[in-house]
Amino acid sequence: MAAELELAAFDIQNVGAFDLGRLARLHRACFEEPWSKSDLAHLLALPGGLGLIARSRGLRRLGFDTRRPVGFSLCRLTRDESELLSIGVAPDMRRVGLATHLVRQSMRRCRAGGARCMFLEVAIDNPGAQALYDREGFREIGRREGYYRRNAGDRVAALTMRAEL
Ligand SMILES: CC(C)(COP(=O)(O)OP(=O)(O)OC[C@H]1O[C@@H](n2cnc3c(N)ncnc32)[C@H](O)[C@@H]1OP(=O)(O)O)[C@@H](O)C(=O)NCCC(=O)NCCS
Repeated sequence: MAAELELAAFDIQNVGAFDLGRLARLHRACFEEPWSKSDLAHLLALPGGLGLIARSRGLRRLGFDTRRPVGFSLCRLTRDESELLSIGVAPDMRRVGLATHLVRQSMRRCRAGGARCMFLEVAIDNPGAQALYDREGFREIGRREGYYRRNAGDRVAALTMRAEL
């Protein structure tokens, strides 16, 4: 459906203090283990914390709130390494390339800050995200058993991936 809306573009900006509530709601719509507003505030206040938030443009005529956040990425930059901590796109805005934009922008921003590589963890039962990362140059370098907890109480392993910046 989203592709049929002929999206003009996305605005991608740094997360601001007033975005935290909306960001927490978006995170909850994307993950079984949501991060609270204070978790997000704490993460972004850490040295090297970087949050990007995407808002769609061009939906006004269809009656949507044009400032609605539709995607985010959260990274941490530590000296010459960086980590993509979380990324998510609103369920009704997936498969139009938004996460691709967010990953590329995150990589660019971390490289500009001095990072030479980026790491991330992805659940082994999330082939969509794995395909996205693979396409953006990330390669599997390890596996962490029981890394994620699911609602049912099950634990799921994560793949650790790495990309050169
Ligand atoms: C994973 C996620 C961020 C992808 O966001 P998105 O904006 O839909 O991704 P893009 O449109 O940029 O997709 C780029 C490519 O990634 C792959 N991909 C993304 N989602 C996919 C899916 N559900 N199934 C298969 N491939 C998928 C495809 O190769 C896609 O290219 P294509 O659409 O031309 O086939 C989104 O589905 C999401 O928020 N999921 C819930 C949270 C999550 O799992 N985050 C990642 C945690 S590691």
